[in-house]
Amino acid sequence: MEPILHEWGSLLLRWTHIIAGMAWIGSSFYFMHLDASLKVCADIPPGKGGEAWEVHGGGFYQVKKYLVAPSFLPEELGWHKWQSYATWITGFFLLIWIYYYQSSLYLIDPAVMSLKPIAAFAIGMGGLAAGWIAYDQLCRSKLGDNPTMVGAIVFVGVVLAAFLFQQVFSPRAAFIHTGALMATIMSGNVFFVIIPNQHKVVAALKAGEVPDPYYGKTAKLRSAHNNYFTLPVVFLMISNHYPLTYSTPYAYVIVALALIAGTVIRYFYNERHAGRGDKVWCWLVAAVCLVIGIFISATTTQAGRTALGLSPLVTPAYAKSGPPEEVPDDVLNIVMGRCSMCHAAEPLYEGITIAPRGVMLDTPEHVARNRSLILVQAGLTHAMPPNNITELSEEDRAALRAWGAGK
Ligand code: HEC
Repeated sequence: MEPILHEWGSLLLRWTHIIAGMAWIGSSFYFMHLDASLKVCADIPPGKGGEAWEVHGGGFYQVKKYLVAPSFLPEELGWHKWQSYATWITGFFLLIWIYYYQSSLYLIDPAVMSLKPIAAFAIGMGGLAAGWIAYDQLCRSKLGDNPTMVGAIVFVGVVLAAFLFQQVFSPRAAFIHTGALMATIMSGNVFFVIIPNQHKVVAALKAGEVPDPYYGKTAKLRSAHNNYFTLPVVFLMISNHYPLTYSTPYAYVIVALALIAGTVIRYFYNERHAGRGDKVWCWLVAAVCLVIGIFISATTTQAGRTALGLSPLVTPAYAKSGPPEEVPDDVLNIVMGRCSMCHAAEPLYEGITIAPRGVMLDTPEHVARNRSLILVQAGLTHAMPPNNITELSEEDRAALRAWGAGK
């Protein structure tokens, strides 16, 4: 029962997380675009806002922006904050559900560091909290007046965090924690700065006072960071399904390259929507970053080197030490005979060059480590082997099921 609940829980959390994320990024992109397309209009002085006409879904919209106090503020305002909070909350539980609940499978790699689950939990959560505090203090410091400087320090900070996570967690978990840290900063910006500042401005306006421009200015810096974080964060979130991105000792360099590529592509669109022309060089920079990233992943991961026919490389994940957990012979024989031709460092199966999903089932240790995945993919469901291509019998599935469930 428990593996089924876990699998469904994971799917439902991921489902809501992606939906909330789409709503958040969608509204954020929409407002960025709207801001950039505002034109001067009759009733708002130039530089104090503007209006945009838009057509969508069979109707026409006339949207106005007031930078300072509009002459009249209605009781009801539409706030955009729950998309952000919901994305963070579902993402947080998804992290717990996948990486902390199954920490021996996804989070802790004894070849990197033999951590106790509680220690790993403290490091992961502490890392997210410390990252937010450091970032927040940086923005509040004197340096906060220099957006370029802050941007550069934030960039170095994120790459440093990626490097540090890599020293303690499995390569995949290190990547997702870097993404989670950036996403925590984004939601923290909304929750702790942007929305509270907006409340203060609204309260001042309702009281007939002139709001302190400080609130608008700091909120703007934070939202600019959020804007430039979006593309790299999505890259980090989805790349945990692509072992070539993270299973290299230079994973933190890949993070740096994704940060640059995502930021310049975002910049291209910001400039274009603001009518400042198409900065084509942005795409060149992004392309160069991606080519360097592909080169690094191809030459410094085991899978990439095998695919290129280069000499093998001993990465921490393969230099695993410690006594393997006992795997019964019948189970080992089944997995070796029906799975390992695809799930190996050097797959023998025609057309498969990289262990699918990074799941390796070629040694007793690897089989032991992947016990619950084997249970779900081949014992409880017929997901593996694909189309039962290696003809796994129902008796063999029953044997995997019994072992996987600990019977
Ligand atoms: C013909 C090659 C092949 C064989 C044989 C094979 N697999 Fe796979 N396996 C794949 C591919 C391809 C994927 C990736 C599927 C995807 O991306 O949706 C995969 C994915 C997986 C995953 C990861 C699923 C996930 O989404 O996390 C597990 C676990 C797995 N296989 C276990 C097994 C087991 C156990 C066996 C033997 C009973 C087996 N596989 C046999 C090709 C194979």
